[in-house]
Amino acid sequence: MSTSKAQVFLDTNRTIAPISPLLFGGFAEHMGRCIYEGIYDPKSPLADERGFRKDVLDALRDQGYTIIRYPGGNFLSGYNWLDGVGPKDQRPRRRELAWQSTETNQFGTNEFMEYCKAVNVAPMLGVNMGTGTIQSAADLVEYCNVPSGTYWSDLRILHGVQQPHNVRYWCVGNEMDGPWQMGHLEAAAYGNKALEAAKLMRWQDPSIKTVLCGSSNDQMPTYPEWDRTALEIAWEEMDYLSMHYYAGNRKNDTTSYLASAVLLERFVDTLEGTLRYVKAKRRSKHDIYLSWDEWQAWYKGDPTKGNWMEAPHLAEEFYNLEDALVVAQWLNVFLRKSYVLKIACVAQIVNVISWLHTRSDGLLKHPSYYVFKLVSNLARGEALDVRVKSPNVETREYDAVPTLDISASYDVETQNGAVFLVNRSQTESVVTDLLWQDGQAIQIDQAWQLAGNDPKAVNTWDASEELVAKNISIPAIDAGRATLNLPPLSFTVLSTCAV
Ligand code: AHR
Repeated sequence: MSTSKAQVFLDTNRTIAPISPLLFGGFAEHMGRCIYEGIYDPKSPLADERGFRKDVLDALRDQGYTIIRYPGGNFLSGYNWLDGVGPKDQRPRRRELAWQSTETNQFGTNEFMEYCKAVNVAPMLGVNMGTGTIQSAADLVEYCNVPSGTYWSDLRILHGVQQPHNVRYWCVGNEMDGPWQMGHLEAAAYGNKALEAAKLMRWQDPSIKTVLCGSSNDQMPTYPEWDRTALEIAWEEMDYLSMHYYAGNRKNDTTSYLASAVLLERFVDTLEGTLRYVKAKRRSKHDIYLSWDEWQAWYKGDPTKGNWMEAPHLAEEFYNLEDALVVAQWLNVFLRKSYVLKIACVAQIVNVISWLHTRSDGLLKHPSYYVFKLVSNLARGEALDVRVKSPNVETREYDAVPTLDISASYDVETQNGAVFLVNRSQTESVVTDLLWQDGQAIQIDQAWQLAGNDPKAVNTWDASEELVAKNISIPAIDAGRATLNLPPLSFTVLSTCAV
C-alpha cells in the first residue's frame, strides 16, 4: 500500500445549482419479490394492519426517500391498472408476461398511494404505452386526480378513497425503445403516442408533470437518436426525459468499474446536449430536465423469469463494497449534474436489484444502503463546484481518472454543508487537504466512513454489519484547512456547520 496527496478546494459561493430533493427517489415494480414479500406481505408477523412490512417501511424512511416510481418497469407495458383497484377478492390473477410470473393484483394503485403516505414520499405513476391506449392513460389520471362527479373519479370513491390522490409525476411509458418491451415502438411512433397521451392526461389535470421515455441505456443502437426524435415530437407536452442505466463489473475489472462515474457523467452530458439541441431547433421557451428513474448495479446473473410463480426470487443481487463505491460515485454525479438532473429513482427499493433484502424473519442491508442514506439525508441546498487536485488511477476502460471522486453541498439557510469523498484506488491512501476558500467560520461536526480491504466483501445474514458507515474521528478545521487520510476503497462523508 502506498500514500499520495490531494487537495480539495471548496467555496460556498461557487455553486452549481439547487439540489432537487427528488434526486433521492426509489422505484418499486411488480417484479419478483419487490411488492409481494418486500413491501406487502399481509401474512407476515412483521406486517402492520395494512399488510405493509414494518421493518421495510422503517428502512425506507431511514433512507430519506422523497419519491417512489411505480408500478414498472417492463411490467407497466402489459398492465391494465383496472386489475389492481376495487375489491381484492374480485381482482384477476394474471399471467404477467414481462417477468413470466403470476400476478395476483392484491396490491394496486390505491395500496401504493397508501404506502407513499406511510413512507412520506411523493408518488410517481407510470401509464402503459405498450399494450395500453392513450384513453386508459387519461382515465387513470381522472381516477387519481379528479375530486368527484365523473365516472372514473366516482369509481375511486366507490373503491373507498374519498380524496383525490393528486399525483403530480407521470411516466409516459417505460423503455419503449427496447425490443424486449411489450408493444415496443419506433422512436417517431412512440413520440407521437406519448405526445397524444400526455395531451389528454394534461387535459384531465393541467398541473401534472410528465416524463418522456429516453433511451434504455447508452449502449442501445438507437441512442441518442431515439431521444432526439422523441423529444422533437413531444417537446411541449413533456417536463422530463428519462434515463435508465444498470452498471456492472461484468469483466471483473474492478479498477475500471470503480471509475464508473466517468461513464455516468458522459451519459448525462450527451442527453443534456440533446435537450439543448432540440430546444433550439424548436425555438422553444420550454425546458425539459432529466429524470434518471432507474439506476443501480445489476450484473450478477440471477434469473429474471419466474416460471409463472407468484413472487418468485428474481434478480436478488447481493451487493459488495465495490458496488457501494459505485453507488457513492453515482450520487456524486447527481450533485455535480444538479443543474439538469432533477429526479432520480434507484431500482429497486427492496429485494429486486436492491440493497435491502427481506426474509420471513428479518431484513438485510447491503453496504450501499449506508451510502445512499448518508447522502440523501445530508445533501441539502446547493451543489458546490468542487475543484480537486488528485493523483490518477490508470483504467482499461477510461484511461487515467482521478483517484478521488468528490461532491459537496451547502445550504445557505441552515449554514450546514457536506462533503462526499470516494477514494477509488485499491492500493493507495490519499492524504487529502480540504481547503474552504470563502473565509467563513465553520467546523466539521460529524464524519463517517465506509471502507474495507476487499472490494468483494459483503454483509451476510450471519454477519450483517461487516460493512456499515462508521463514525470516524472528526478532523479539525484550522484557518479554513482540514487534513484527513482517505484509505483505499473508501467512502468518507463530512458534515459541516457554522462555528
Ligand atoms: O428494474 C428492472 C427492469 O429494468 C425494469 O423493469 C426495466 O425498465 C429495466 O429494463
